[in-house]
Amino acid sequence: MAIEQLTVQGLRNLQAVDMQPGTGINLVCGPNASGKTSLLEALHLLALGRSFRTQKLASIISSGGESCQLFARITTAGGASMPLGMCRRLDGDHETRLNGENLRSTSELAMLLPVQVIAPSGVGLLEASPGVRRQFLDWGVFHFDERFYGLWKQAQRLLKQRNSALKCGTIDASVRASFEPGMVQVSGQLDELRSAYIEALEPLFLASLKRLVEIPDLHLAYYRGWNRDKGLQQVLDETLARDQALGYTQRGPQRADIRFTIDGANAAERLSRGQQKLVTIALRLAQGQLLGQSIEGGRSKCLYLVDDLAAELDWQHRQQVCQQLLELQTQVFVTAVNKTELATAWPSGTALTCFAIEHGKIQLDDS
Ligand SMILES: Nc1ncnc2c1ncn2[C@@H]1O[C@H](COP(=O)(O)OP(=O)(O)OP(=O)(O)O)[C@@H](O)[C@H]1O
Ligand SMILES: [Mg+2]
Repeated sequence: MAIEQLTVQGLRNLQAVDMQPGTGINLVCGPNASGKTSLLEALHLLALGRSFRTQKLASIISSGGESCQLFARITTAGGASMPLGMCRRLDGDHETRLNGENLRSTSELAMLLPVQVIAPSGVGLLEASPGVRRQFLDWGVFHFDERFYGLWKQAQRLLKQRNSALKCGTIDASVRASFEPGMVQVSGQLDELRSAYIEALEPLFLASLKRLVEIPDLHLAYYRGWNRDKGLQQVLDETLARDQALGYTQRGPQRADIRFTIDGANAAERLSRGQQKLVTIALRLAQGQLLGQSIEGGRSKCLYLVDDLAAELDWQHRQQVCQQLLELQTQVFVTAVNKTELATAWPSGTALTCFAIEHGKIQLDDS
């Protein structure tokens, strides 16, 4: 999967972007406030229907504008080239067309254009909320096993039913019998898929991390959302009174998490900020690597959006991250203020496609 051509109009300060990225490493360099992060945001919006910076569409659409338009020609994992267009309007109206047909669900897009964001200035996965780590986990499982999405949707629907019965005070034995067995079954299946994913991810993560930084006792553990030695039905029975008082279900796959520990203590309290960032980067590199392996022939590749790498990592770590990104043999967009600082971090001989961006205008930079 790669973006062959991209045009953007009316997104933040990007007024008339028209670029043909390379299929490998793309550097986007320019001064502060030139539009670097906005360009990555445009790519993210195209791939997932949402930004990685904000939930508010109004802040993404150029001030004074009514809509933003994105168009890309993409090569799919199967090698087909197809047009993808998106329009997002201030009033919430939106349209996405792939190969001339309207797309109703963003999950179809997410399947087609897997994206990883490495934005070292953001909160790392270790100190993020469990919800963010769950999102990270589920991104991986979604691309790893095609059964996941259907099960996840089913689990969401059943949980909603139970929570609304808890809230309205209508929960009794017969109401519970109408959806709890289903919840127990679907939750067990979700747990199996997530657990298998973590098992596959862990060795890749540890190998990637080892090349970045030595943290010998770091341990990664998957928490399924309820007690390991109890069945979910038993847990639901035991927590019913408290669930009723709170008005929602406390335990279940909706609480799944990945926990990082060192000698039994929360790793976020032991590691430096730099180490935490490297752990997050290693996790994201490992996810891309696993995705590349999981589909036959490694055809499913992930697009990497890497913001401001030079600003956050020292020279040695920057070089190591670039090396690992290169090994993924996938399309990468990396931004920096200083071109030399970024361009020299790649192994010598790396083919780089460089773009210069200024005041929201982007052009090929072959200097
Ligand atoms: N909705 C909007 N309409 C117009 N301009 C906007 C909007 N939102 C943000 N901007 C402006 O777009 C410009 C580009 O922002 P962006 O964050 O992409 O810059 P950047 O190149 O990543 O900068 P830095 O190096 O500081 O991270 C900024 O001047 C910002 O104020
Ligand atoms: Mg930026």
